[in-house]
Amino acid sequence: MSPAERWPAHLPEPEALSFGRYLAPFVVVAEHDAQQGWLPLEVLPRHAVRLDIASGGLQYGLSVFEGLKAYRDAAAGLHLFRPDAHCQRLAHSARQLHLPVMPDELLMSMMRRAVDVHRDHVPPYRRGALYLRPTLYALEEGLGLKASARHALCIVATPCSATSVAPARRLWAERELIRAAPGGLGTAKTAANYAASMLGAQRARARGYDDALWLDAAEHRYLAEAGTMNLFIVLRDRVLTPPLDACILAGITRDSVLRRLADRGVPVEQRPIALDDLLHWQSRGELLECFGTGTAAGVAPIAEIGWDAACVRSIDTQRSTQLARQLADDQDGVADDLHGWRIAV
Ligand SMILES: Cc1ncc(COP(=O)(O)O)c(C=O)c1O
Repeated sequence: MSPAERWPAHLPEPEALSFGRYLAPFVVVAEHDAQQGWLPLEVLPRHAVRLDIASGGLQYGLSVFEGLKAYRDAAAGLHLFRPDAHCQRLAHSARQLHLPVMPDELLMSMMRRAVDVHRDHVPPYRRGALYLRPTLYALEEGLGLKASARHALCIVATPCSATSVAPARRLWAERELIRAAPGGLGTAKTAANYAASMLGAQRARARGYDDALWLDAAEHRYLAEAGTMNLFIVLRDRVLTPPLDACILAGITRDSVLRRLADRGVPVEQRPIALDDLLHWQSRGELLECFGTGTAAGVAPIAEIGWDAACVRSIDTQRSTQLARQLADDQDGVADDLHGWRIAV
């Protein structure tokens, strides 16, 4: 069966697409050869892409990726949201793993092509997006650990629901396992970090929580991030988020939210936030809400953070609701493009 045949003839309504469930039938691929550099891009059926079991991509996790979205605007035109920031972060991740960096113009042309090939499957205005997952991985076969001479960058796409449909989550702060440590790969969007977070996520779920909340590696006290989201804490007089240190992913949604808070003149601090601080603010009635940010999740309310025998709970959703609306307006093309975030395809 060809991938196009596996793609259902009629996709469900956008609200039922969820995230990552319906993989688009074609991918856009370009290979890189140490001698020849980047080779011309190709559009292939997704199942035609093969990765050898002895490739560095599979054996040693030599792979990095991005996640960004294309939206349909009111006039049915298509645009990507902040693709330049995603290009830069992919380059950063590639450097961290000693993988070849693709020039921004080439990556942009691959992303445009991926949207173009699947343009009929971009959900209607305001009802979802086409998520793109550019993935760069080592192709060379051989079991000795060494840098690969051949790589591929492949973009897979999946249409997904609008983020507004996600319910509030409950996070368990993991106080034993760590996701990343200073000097490691925490700032790269690479397979290893997600592999490192699987057991913690599972432990959180076994306790009835939705996901793990990761803490600093040295003291297991300071908030880092969740599995696929950066974290924000709303107090009565200001909004806080952990600083970009050597361990957390510099979320592009985090940055969009920070800029929109600044536009509104809301006081914001990027500072270390300890679990004890949360308890302190809660006991004084200062803690209003917690929320997460990410491309897949949007601005996602967090109902509760639990750890040891303690927990803190959001008592309000006003700020996260306002920011979720603002972000959706920025992404869908409703708000003025103050910061030049939307790039037409
Ligand atoms: C570990 C991690 N942190 C944070 C984020 C949020 O990043 P962004 O807003 O760029 O999607 C993601 C999602 O990609 C993630 O995987």
